[in-house]
Amino acid sequence: MAKTKSPARNKKAAVSAGAAKGNSQLEKYFHDALKDIYWAEKALTKALPKLKRASTTDQLQTAIDTHLEQTREQITRLEEVFQLLGKKAQGKKCEAMEGLVKEGEEAVESTEKGSMTRDVAIIVACQKVEHYEIATYGSLVQLARTMGNADVANVLETTLEEEKETDLLLTSIAENNINWEAEQEEEVEEEA
Ligand SMILES: [Fe+2]
Repeated sequence: MAKTKSPARNKKAAVSAGAAKGNSQLEKYFHDALKDIYWAEKALTKALPKLKRASTTDQLQTAIDTHLEQTREQITRLEEVFQLLGKKAQGKKCEAMEGLVKEGEEAVESTEKGSMTRDVAIIVACQKVEHYEIATYGSLVQLARTMGNADVANVLETTLEEEKETDLLLTSIAENNINWEAEQEEEVEEEA
């Protein structure tokens, strides 16, 4: 069946009316992005314990544990943001986080239990997650400021700083000395 085009609407009028009600396109986009990261943080609380169990180094396990606790607080912070905006806290599937979590699982599956190479792979997977979150929260903080909502920007900025610190911590764990130990590991036999 041939598609019929819906009649053109006066979008300009709709946009300006929306902005006046605090319901602009940008605010809708922002609300959607919040739902996305809310889902992502929740997904992470399920993924992190698995990564911790799969890792060997004490320092890495502690870092993952600490970040799990932080992630739970970040979820509470997002609920606070929803509340500040007068919206219900609600998640929407984040395709990016789903992919990153899957990549973390694959990193574990493709490396040997107890090896430093596996710890390296877990750190890389965690840092990819952190960089995604830094990009997300960084953008949301700026957008909240642009929209004149300093309270929301401040709450999100607390989380942004935590994500940055976690990223730096993971780098220092990798450099002292998991990367080097992994480099010393013996070759594994290729599967037939
Ligand atoms: Fe987070």
